[in-house]
Amino acid sequence: MSSIESVMTETRIFAPHEAFKQAATVSGIEAYENLCNLAEQDYTGFWADLANAEIDWHKPFTEILDESTPPFYRWFYDGELNASYNCLDRHLASRGDKTAIIFEADDGTSTHISYKALHQRVCRFANALKKQGVGLGDRVVIYLPMSVEAVVAMQACARIGAIHSVVFGGFSAKSLHERITDVGAKLVITADEGMRGGKAVALKSAVDESLTMGGCDAVEKVIVYRRTGGKTAWNESKDLWWHELEAVESDYCEPTWVNAEHPLFILYTSGSTGKPKGVQHSTAGYLLGAILSLKWVFDHKATDIFWCTADVGWITGHSYVAYGPLALGGTQVVFEGIPTYPDAGRFWQMIEKHKVSVFYTAPTAIRSLIKLGGNLPNNYDLSSLRLLGTVGEPINPEAWMWYHTVVGKERCPIADTWWQTETGSHMIAPLPGAIAAKPGSCTLPLPGIMADVVNEDGSAVSGTEGGLLVIKKPFPSLLRTIWNDPDRFQRTYFPNTLPGYYLAGDSAHRDADGYFWIMGRIDDVLNVSGHRLGTMEIESALVANPLVAEAAIVGKPHDIKGESIVAYVVLKGERPEGEAAKKIVADLRDWVAKEIGPIAKPDEIRFGDNLPKTRSGKIMRRLLRSLAKGEEITSDISTLDNPAILEQLKQPVS
Ligand code: WTA
Repeated sequence: MSSIESVMTETRIFAPHEAFKQAATVSGIEAYENLCNLAEQDYTGFWADLANAEIDWHKPFTEILDESTPPFYRWFYDGELNASYNCLDRHLASRGDKTAIIFEADDGTSTHISYKALHQRVCRFANALKKQGVGLGDRVVIYLPMSVEAVVAMQACARIGAIHSVVFGGFSAKSLHERITDVGAKLVITADEGMRGGKAVALKSAVDESLTMGGCDAVEKVIVYRRTGGKTAWNESKDLWWHELEAVESDYCEPTWVNAEHPLFILYTSGSTGKPKGVQHSTAGYLLGAILSLKWVFDHKATDIFWCTADVGWITGHSYVAYGPLALGGTQVVFEGIPTYPDAGRFWQMIEKHKVSVFYTAPTAIRSLIKLGGNLPNNYDLSSLRLLGTVGEPINPEAWMWYHTVVGKERCPIADTWWQTETGSHMIAPLPGAIAAKPGSCTLPLPGIMADVVNEDGSAVSGTEGGLLVIKKPFPSLLRTIWNDPDRFQRTYFPNTLPGYYLAGDSAHRDADGYFWIMGRIDDVLNVSGHRLGTMEIESALVANPLVAEAAIVGKPHDIKGESIVAYVVLKGERPEGEAAKKIVADLRDWVAKEIGPIAKPDEIRFGDNLPKTRSGKIMRRLLRSLAKGEEITSDISTLDNPAILEQLKQPVS
C-alpha cells in the first residue's frame, strides 16, 4: 500500500506527554492559538516583533512589509544585519566556549568545535575570500562534502555579503556546470574527495570537468579543501589549497552589513521543466524563519544536542545545519558519513555517543533502517532523545509508529514538518508541546503561516475535500525570486488563476480537525528518497543519449524511497531484447548518473517501439503510471493513437 493510501485511513492521535508539555516553549494548545491570534490581528506587527526579538540588527528596520509590487515582497527592508554575526559573534561573550559543532567523520572519529573556534575559522576564511576578490553580491558555488568546512564556507560567504550556492556533492559534473553557469559563479569551493561509507568520492575532478564544459569564464579561482589527500589534478593558475589560504589570515573579519533583503543564498531545485530553478532567499526573512521554527517546532533549549541528518546540499541542511542551530547558539552534530556504515546501527550508536536530544531525519532513512534492522535501536541507549522530526515526504503510519515506539520509546513527540526549498523553513508542523500528532499528518500551520487548501480558482474547498495547498499571505522566509528568471517565479508560484496566493505545488486535504494531509505533487516533480527530481530533467538527460529517440519518466510507489523512477524509452534503432536490452539498460542508467547524478538513475527502464499517445501526439502519462504499477488498464483508451504499444510497455527488462 502506498503511503498516500495508508494515511487516508489513519485515525490514531498522540497528545504530548504532560512533562514535555510543561517544559515546552509553546505549552498547550491555547499558547499556540494565542500566537495564531496575534498574527491574525496584526499580521505585520506580529512579524516585526519577532524580527526585533530574534535578530541582532546593525541598523534596526522601520519598514516592515513592502507589498507595492506583488509578488516581489520585501520584509524589514530598511534594516541592516549580517547573518554570520547573528550565528557567531553574538554568542561569543555569553557562550564562546560552548560547543557549536560536534563533527563525526565517516570513520567514527569526532571533534568538538566551540563557538569561539568556529568564529575564528569563519573569519579567517572570509578574509581569504576577500583576498581573492570576492565581495558583496558575488556568487560562490560550494561543492563540498558534509564537513565543518562546508559550514565555514557558507558562513564566510554570508559574512562578506557574497551569495553562496551550494551544490549537493552527489550531483554530476554536468549538473554542477549548469548551476555554475546559471548563477555566474566567481569562485568555486570544493574538496579533493569526500569520504562516505569507507569510500572516497571524487569532487575536485568533477569541478575540473565542469569548468572545461564552457561558459564558466567568470570562475576565477577554485579553493580546495584537502579532505583525503587523494591525488587531484592541479591547475596552478586557478587552484588554491584551503589550508594555505586560511593559515595566513587574521582571526577577525569585520562583517559586511547588508540590507535585510540582500540575497543570502541561491539553491537550485527541480521544477516541472528541464531546467532547475535557482531559489533565491533573503537574509533577514530567511534567518527569522530558521530561528522561529527551531524554537517552535524543535522546542529549542540551550542544553539540546541537535542532530539534523540532511546534507548541506539541500535546503534542510541550510536551515537546520548551517544557519538555524548556530543562530540560536545551540550545539549540533554534523555527520560526514551514511546511516548504514559500518552497519545499520550507525544513527543509533551516534545518538548514544553524543547524547543527541533532538533528532531530525527523513522518512526514507527511517524506512530503510527498519528494513535493515528494526530491532537495532534497542541495542543502544537512546534515553537522551526527547523529540524526533521528519521531513521531505509524507511518512507512512507504519514507519511513524516504529519511529515513535522503537526510537522514541513512546516518550518523544514526532514533528512531521512540511515545507519546501522555497519556503526556507517549516510551514506546517506540530508545535510539540501544544499540538497532538496524527501519524502521517503534518498537522497545523505555524503561527503566522496562512496555509489552506483551495480549488483551482482559489475558492475554498468544501469540507475535507482535497485541493491545492496554498499560503495566502506573504511571509518573511518565502523565496524572493528565481535567480535570473523573475517571470518564471511569478508564473510558477503566483499564477493568475489564484488571487495572489503562494502556490506550493502540492495537493492536500484537511480533516475535520483542520489537520493537513499532504497528498503529493501536482506537477511533474518526483519525490525519490525525499529528493525532488523533475521528470523533464531525467527525460532530457535520456534523450541526450545518442541511442535514444524519445523518453517518458513516471514515478511508481516504492516501499523505501517513497517513489521510484520508471523510464519508458524508444530507441532510434530497433527495440532491444534479451541480453542486448540488459546492456542498454545498464548503459542508460550510468548515462543518467553522469548527466544528473546517481540519485536520478531510473530504477526500471522499459522499451517500446513508441509511447502511448493521444491522436494529437500527447504522451499519456496516466497510462504509463498505471503500467508502472502493474495495474490492468481498464479506462477508456479509445483516444489512444497506438493501443498496441501498451503490451510492449508492461514489462521491465529482466
Ligand atoms: C515534499 C524539503 C509530505 C512536498 C524540505 C514538498 C513533504 C517537497 C514533507 C519539497 C512532509 C516535504 N510531508 N511531503 N513533511 N516535507 N515534502 O524543496 O512535496 O526538497 O513540496 O524541501 O517535498 O521538497 P524540498
